Amino acid sequence: MKKLLLGVVLLGGVSLAADGAAIFKSKGCASCHQPAVDTVGPSLKKIAKAYEGKKDQLVKFLKGQAPAIVDPAKFPIMKAQLNTIKGLSDKELEALADFMLSHK
Ligand code: HEC
Repeated sequence: MKKLLLGVVLLGGVSLAADGAAIFKSKGCASCHQPAVDTVGPSLKKIAKAYEGKKDQLVKFLKGQAPAIVDPAKFPIMKAQLNTIKGLSDKELEALADFMLSHK
């Protein structure tokens, strides 16, 4: 029984990481953010570099509570996108941040 519970907890952790990728796709983020090349928005690699060790700050940015640090001049384009993730829980925003930070 204990082993079974542990398995459930571990699986829960894995699915949390997977959620970030799913949210990123389902919210349309991927249309402007490619993994390694800058398109309309900066690449995930660039974002991960700028926010290395600053996951809390990244979550704050996603909540609209911290300023843009990657390409502030283009923030008006990104600002409109923050509305699409307004209803997400802290857990979901953290999964989203984890997914972006995994692109180094
Ligand atoms: C219409 C194109 C577009 C879409 C869709 C989009 N972004 Fe962006 N994003 C941008 C642009 C342009 C920038 C550069 C401005 C900036 O740095 O804020 C940016 C910057 C960012 C940054 C860096 C913030 C910083 O500190 O500068 C993050 C993080 C980010 N986007 C996450 C997301 C997420 C998550 C989604 C999906 C909910 C998303 N983006 C959807 C265009 C887009």
